[in-house]
Amino acid sequence: MSKEKILAAYEQMAEAYNALVMHKPHNAYYDRPNTLRLLPNVKGKTILDAACGPGVYAEILMDLGALVTGFDLSPKMVDLAIQRNPGRGTFFVHDLSKPLERIGDHSCDIVLCALALHYIEDWSMTIKEFHRVLKSGGVLVISIQHPFYEFNFFKSKKYFEIEPVKCTWRGFGSPVEVHSYRRPLSACLSPLTGNGFYIDELVEPKPSKEFEPLDPKHFRELNEFPAFMCIRAVKRKGPT
Ligand SMILES: C[S@@+](CC[C@H](N)C(=O)[O-])C[C@H]1O[C@@H](n2cnc3c(N)ncnc32)[C@H](O)[C@@H]1O
Repeated sequence: MSKEKILAAYEQMAEAYNALVMHKPHNAYYDRPNTLRLLPNVKGKTILDAACGPGVYAEILMDLGALVTGFDLSPKMVDLAIQRNPGRGTFFVHDLSKPLERIGDHSCDIVLCALALHYIEDWSMTIKEFHRVLKSGGVLVISIQHPFYEFNFFKSKKYFEIEPVKCTWRGFGSPVEVHSYRRPLSACLSPLTGNGFYIDELVEPKPSKEFEPLDPKHFRELNEFPAFMCIRAVKRKGPT
């Protein structure tokens, strides 16, 4: 699967995503509250927002007193993140699957990667880079599509494989085909535990109450079966 297709999809969606993401139920009342809850106190903390999109997480975290650097594959998303956060934060174009040369060793207290790792086939380099840039005891918080949800949604017959999948999104402007990788639960956890992290908390989230009036059907479904999974992993102390 080509990175170009993912990039093209987000370049096409960027404006609509930016306009809607503050109140879109799956983002505002499902992913964000559950993912933010996994972060420690961020005041004065240095945070890397990996695949920052239009900078909504960065905005929330900087309002809480954090120092945020964000990057994204999509230049339009990076421009929107800069516009959303005038005069604060640092944002640049970068591919999650490439070495993070601009970020120093042990320079971050927290790395956040919300709803983006499923665009990467092989997580090992990315997680190793998150580990390198984090201080000892630093926290990595990720949110991803729940592996069991994806197995059902994509009607997979090969649970144990990492396989390319695609679906059409209709919620951010005109329909757009979004390509990603579905993987088993073990392939979500072993890149973390195998690269110097321990899993501190794993959340199968439920939507918050604001979700219900906006989208009662998905509110009911998400209370019966999770679509996302949020993880807090901690960089083990000791020699790296
Ligand atoms: C669903 S959006 C999430 C954005 C943001 N984290 C949020 O939750 O609001 C996924 C983001 O991942 C970005 N992305 C996809 N593949 C990427 C890659 N290889 N490197 C960096 N960013 C990527 C997209 O451009 C998009 O902005």
